[in-house]
Amino acid sequence: MSISYLSFSYLLASILLILSIRGLSSPETARKGNILGIIGMILAILTTLYSPLVSEYKWVLLMILLGGIIGTISALKVKMTALPQMIAAFNGLGGLSSVFIAAAEIISGAQTYLETSLGMLIGAVAFSGSLIAFAKLQGLMPAKAITFPGQQFLNLLLALGVLGSATLFILNGNPDIFYLLAGLSIILGLLLVLPIGGADMPVVISILNAYSGWAAVGIGFALHNVLLIIIGSIVGASGAILSYIMVKAMNRSLKNVMLGGFGVAKNKTAQADEEEKVAHSGTPEDAAFIMENANKVIIVPGYGMAVAQAQHILKEMAVDLKEKYDVEVKFAIHPVAGRMPGHMNVLLAEANVPYDDVFELDDINREFATADVAYVIGANDVTNPQAKTNPDSPIFGMPILDVEKAKTVFFVKRSLATGYSGVDNPLFYAPNTVMLYGDAKKVTEEIVRSLEKN
Ligand code: TAP
Repeated sequence: MSISYLSFSYLLASILLILSIRGLSSPETARKGNILGIIGMILAILTTLYSPLVSEYKWVLLMILLGGIIGTISALKVKMTALPQMIAAFNGLGGLSSVFIAAAEIISGAQTYLETSLGMLIGAVAFSGSLIAFAKLQGLMPAKAITFPGQQFLNLLLALGVLGSATLFILNGNPDIFYLLAGLSIILGLLLVLPIGGADMPVVISILNAYSGWAAVGIGFALHNVLLIIIGSIVGASGAILSYIMVKAMNRSLKNVMLGGFGVAKNKTAQADEEEKVAHSGTPEDAAFIMENANKVIIVPGYGMAVAQAQHILKEMAVDLKEKYDVEVKFAIHPVAGRMPGHMNVLLAEANVPYDDVFELDDINREFATADVAYVIGANDVTNPQAKTNPDSPIFGMPILDVEKAKTVFFVKRSLATGYSGVDNPLFYAPNTVMLYGDAKKVTEEIVRSLEKN
């Protein structure tokens, strides 16, 4: 295949992949987006295989087979709740492949020092940072922020070391300095993610995702590969935009996330106050009775709904309330409910909840004041009024769903435990709150049984 055909084919693959991302932005077009992505990726792989640069197929095919098997098995086996660490692992592999390609370029005597070193150092940081993110999310190491005296000074020294060795390498192309740069970048990636607490991990993963994209851009320039440059830029830019959207939804700054410490025990006073308070609890039958006599019920799903996989039974509850008892039912989605952007939307779409019944925070928040019931299922932080009232709280400033304004608030969760940010929720003790203790799916199943019995 001649170079112009190659470029044309890569361009076509890139367009398909861009259209795929566009399709994935809405549940209605997501399936089509996925298919376009698959076609784009197949075209990209076939084009690469036809390229005159590939002289031997044995290793390429072996690696495609091996990667394909590992990817298929992990995709089939992974639980919805373990998706963040799977994404972390795949980001890390993306970064590592940039490191290997850069090393291969240097070994083969290529002189694209600037592009290669940039691709390698960003890829190395993405790789080692993702290792720590994976270990924290998988529970292989403590999820909390790990800090030690002089940490930021050490990071600064390392960053200077990375910049210095990159400059030296670009000037003289000495392979030994390239390996020193690789080592320093890997240590820097580890140390950058260590001080970041669990609640911020999704943001970190998105940042590391952006890094793996920028690393691919560097490598794309080194190899003169149009596809890597275009797709790397898309991954880099979309990862950066996603990180921005997430920190904005939590009313934090990227600097604040990267310096760590979110969710550490800063909340002692609130905890001490709460000890004397009593939370009222009720039964699923009580909840069914109150909801069937309500005019308006707003359902607020959160991470616990995902853990319990309660979306299908929740949909059934909404249908019963609407059709049997003529209740107006709406779903309220907080932008960072769950553990991934769009987490709740995906689960509700899977359960065929009509899109017209699902509302974003800004569009529904005013309606809690006119609702008889807020049914908060497995959500916690996204309803915590401390975000509005307590300037000392680590979540202060995050926009929240005003569930407390409803006449009755049901919290479906297993205990009074905190959510991911580790912050107590004073709403559990409010006079209009009723705790429905138990697994989100089981409690909702019992409510549906009661609704269908009456
Ligand atoms: P959380 O505040 O994490 O609360 C989830 C609650 O679910 C927990 O308090 C837990 O209480 C309950 N739960 C767990 N398993 C359950 C089960 N099987 N049945 C019933 N309840 C169960 O969740 P949220 O309100 O969705 O907030 C999301 C948090 O993640 C926020 O702090 C947000 O900032 C953070 N975050 C999210 C994102 C994205 S993009 N979504 C990004 C970064 C950070 P029990 O243990 O008592 O059951």
